[in-house]
Formats: sequence, C-alpha cells, structure tokens
Amino acid sequence: MASPIRKAILPVAGLGTRFLPATKAVPKEMLTVVDRPVVQHVVDEARAAGIEHIVFVTGRNKAVIEDHFDRQYELEDTLKERGKLKELDALRAETMGPGMTSFTRQQLPLGLGHAVWCARDIIGNEPFALLLPDMLHMSRGRNGCLAQMVDAYAKTGGGNHIAVYEVPDDQTNQYGIVGQGANIGDGVFKISKMVEKPAKGTAPSNLAISGRYILQPEIFDLLENQERGAGNEIQLTDSMLKLAEEQEFYGVTFDGAIYDCGSKLGFLMANVAYALARPDIRGPFRHELNALLAANQRAAE
Ligand code: G1P
Repeated sequence: MASPIRKAILPVAGLGTRFLPATKAVPKEMLTVVDRPVVQHVVDEARAAGIEHIVFVTGRNKAVIEDHFDRQYELEDTLKERGKLKELDALRAETMGPGMTSFTRQQLPLGLGHAVWCARDIIGNEPFALLLPDMLHMSRGRNGCLAQMVDAYAKTGGGNHIAVYEVPDDQTNQYGIVGQGANIGDGVFKISKMVEKPAKGTAPSNLAISGRYILQPEIFDLLENQERGAGNEIQLTDSMLKLAEEQEFYGVTFDGAIYDCGSKLGFLMANVAYALARPDIRGPFRHELNALLAANQRAAE
C-alpha cells in the first residue's frame, strides 16, 4: 500500500509584483476571496484531503500569515462575551491545531524548486503534497482538487501525481506543460513528457500543470543539485523530469475551475465565482451583479 500523504508544502515567499500596490505591505496570499484570505482557501483544500501538517515556506514581510493560522485569544474571548458562538465555532474549526504548522524561510527568491527544497528537513522521508497558493482550484467534486489526487494516488498505489488542466494554445508558454501517455481511467493518465514554459508553438499538449502535486521525497536530492533553468530559477519541473527517469508520474485532470489569484483578472473572477457558490450570499450577490452588468451595458450603448 502507498504511504499516506500527511504533510503539505505551501510556498508563500513570492513578492506579488503582479499585484502592486495591493501587495506592498500585505502578502498576496492574504488578499481576500469573499471573506477569507486566498491562503485559507488553499489550507481548507489541503485539510479536506486529509493533510495533518502544513509547512509554509515564507519570506520577509509574511509574518501575518503565521498570525492568521494561530489562535487569537482576545478575539475568541470577545466573541464568547458577546454570545457570537457561531462565529467562534467557525473560527476555531479553521484554526490549525498546536504543532500542525511549520514555517521556514526561503531567504532568497531562487524559484519554486528552491522553495520546495527549503522544506526538506521538515517533510523528511515521506511523500508529500505541494499546493501553490496563487492558484485557487474550485472543484466540482465534494472535497477539492487535492482530495481528487489523493484518491488517484490510492488507486495507482503510489507514484508522483500532478494536477493538470487545459489551457488555450496562446497560454502554454506561461505554465509547465505535460505530454499525455497511457490512459489509466477517471481522468488519470501516465505523463510522457514535461516541459517548463515551452516556447510558443513547441508545447507537447495543452495540459498545464495547475499547481497541485503529490511528490515522493527523492525529489529533494534532485533539487539539491538542480541547475537553474527557465527564468534563471531552480525549476521544480526540471527535477521532476529527472525523477521521472526512475519513478512513475501521473497526470490527474482536475474536475473544476482554476483562478490565478496572483493576477488581477484571476483574483476578481475568483471573488465572483466563490461568492456565487456561497449559499449565504449568492442570492443577493447575483441580483446586484446582474443589475450592475445591465447598467454597465446601458452606459456603453
Ligand atoms: C509554477 C510551475 C509551473 C506551473 C505554474 C502553475 O510556475 O513552475 O509548472 O504551471 O506554477 O501556476 P510559476 O507560476 O511559479 O511561474
């Protein structure tokens, strides 16, 4: 039986330059989608997949992320005094328990591969999940993208798994792209190729790496010796390619919609989509949104 996936890495050291000036003093991971920070949505997805421990790879000016996942005694007391027990329960349910988080710093912006390698000692010798927090995965299934991957991992009896989704031809140069090998069923296939940000017209398919991975610990040794690749950064994809010479890699076609919250458009669309999916506000929100769009249309005519 494949070893269980207990730990997850969340790289949160990025500067958020695509989202200035919002990200000058506030980490991009703390921008809110509806009523919770982007990073909270991703932690919720990890926990829904059975993750027990989250390793945040942080950087300078990101301390507020650590505070967000801690308990806030004054706030809890005040909510209790005011009888706001529903809010208190919700807050407690979302807080990570003692010893369930670790924080380590990347120190230098050397790329995703380097960020993952920074977590090597905390992960140790076991398979782990990796979730890129910019990418919000809104699943059609009940439990989210990582849960879909954990199911696939159980079915294949282990290996390395990468979530993929289809992107238009003119966007393949912005992502890691995989080649599709033998079909395993239920949207899972063997990966035949991987290339990080292929030049226009050279991508092996339209299947982009979406930012959710299950990886075996042997990746750390490869990352340690990895030379810089695309964008002069230590690329995770390059080390995965090396690992693929010895181990199986599977693509898991994500069943849902993806919003890149590191970009302005993706972030705005995530807010609309997540609000429309929330039973408590979707009715009035849809009403207001339709009215706004209609007024906007009239003004443009
Ligand atoms: C990273 C990965 C890339 C993946 C992308 C998803 O790139 O290297 O393979 O497709 O995340 O967002 P980055 O966005 O860090 O340039």
